[in-house]
Amino acid sequence: MFLTQSTARSTFLKILTLTALATGVSLAAAADRIPIGFSQATMNSPFRVVQTQKMVDYAKTLPDVDLIVTDGQGDSAKQAADIENLIARGVKVLTVSANSAAALTPSVRDAMRAGIKVVTVDRKVNTKVTAHVGGVNKPIGEAAGKLLIEKLGNKGAVAEIEGVAGASVTIDRHEGFAEALKGSGVKIVAMQYGDFQREPAIKFTEDLLQKYKPGELQAIFAQNDEMALGVIQALETAGRSKDVLVVSIDGQERAFQAIKAGKLLATFIYPLAAPEGMEIAYKLAKGESVPPVTTLEFHQVDASNVDSYLGKGF
Ligand code: AHR
Repeated sequence: MFLTQSTARSTFLKILTLTALATGVSLAAAADRIPIGFSQATMNSPFRVVQTQKMVDYAKTLPDVDLIVTDGQGDSAKQAADIENLIARGVKVLTVSANSAAALTPSVRDAMRAGIKVVTVDRKVNTKVTAHVGGVNKPIGEAAGKLLIEKLGNKGAVAEIEGVAGASVTIDRHEGFAEALKGSGVKIVAMQYGDFQREPAIKFTEDLLQKYKPGELQAIFAQNDEMALGVIQALETAGRSKDVLVVSIDGQERAFQAIKAGKLLATFIYPLAAPEGMEIAYKLAKGESVPPVTTLEFHQVDASNVDSYLGKGF
């Protein structure tokens, strides 16, 4: 059985422990149990809520696991403290999705040095870990760039709204996108971090539309669906939906609906890496060997195939 500690910030699960903890029995005392940590970067977007839920749901099916989930609240210092805390609590395996690769590297290194097996889930850090599972972000950025080159006839001005500064996925998605456009007639004229959140994307788009008049901006690449939904909202409010294409990443149900409605050109389904992260963690906890890297596929969804994805998004 799992316990919930709700906070004012979210009703979602922040810290989960098994009955042993509920009854005051320490993890150390529950010798037959396996404590596994999941250090989540934040719970402020649908992707991360669903990812966490899938980790939790899988752990519930395991007969001997005490899963402890922490929420970094989008603050790398908080997430680093969470990881140090999980180390102190004696987790056998640490799964982590890092807010910022560089900022979380020292804590992950501490975990590895303490002999804890570490699995990075979708977002990486800059040090060797036991295993990584996730999608390929650079190829997705490249695919988004190539799609826009094709749709724009190899000319035009595009803006990019990036995710969380320093997150490995943000860096890789941008690199892929920029490399695809290099040498083409499609130029990036504006870029800003949007923290993978809708509100900053709305503001960024409003500002862009002030600066670039109709015909001066042809597309916006949003690094996730949540931001794309903000971009679409701002374009609609300004009556500019028809002249600016939008492309994004993730696979949210609302993104599929926007494609169906002709408001979003395409999204690239980005794997949640859950429950795979927990499956790998459990194998490691049981002494099984796992591949150092498990790569998950991505898929392009656009008007041509959206019907087969509708109802399957998160
Ligand atoms: O790390 C993956 C990214 O994190 C998702 O694309 C985004 O929605 C989430 O916040």
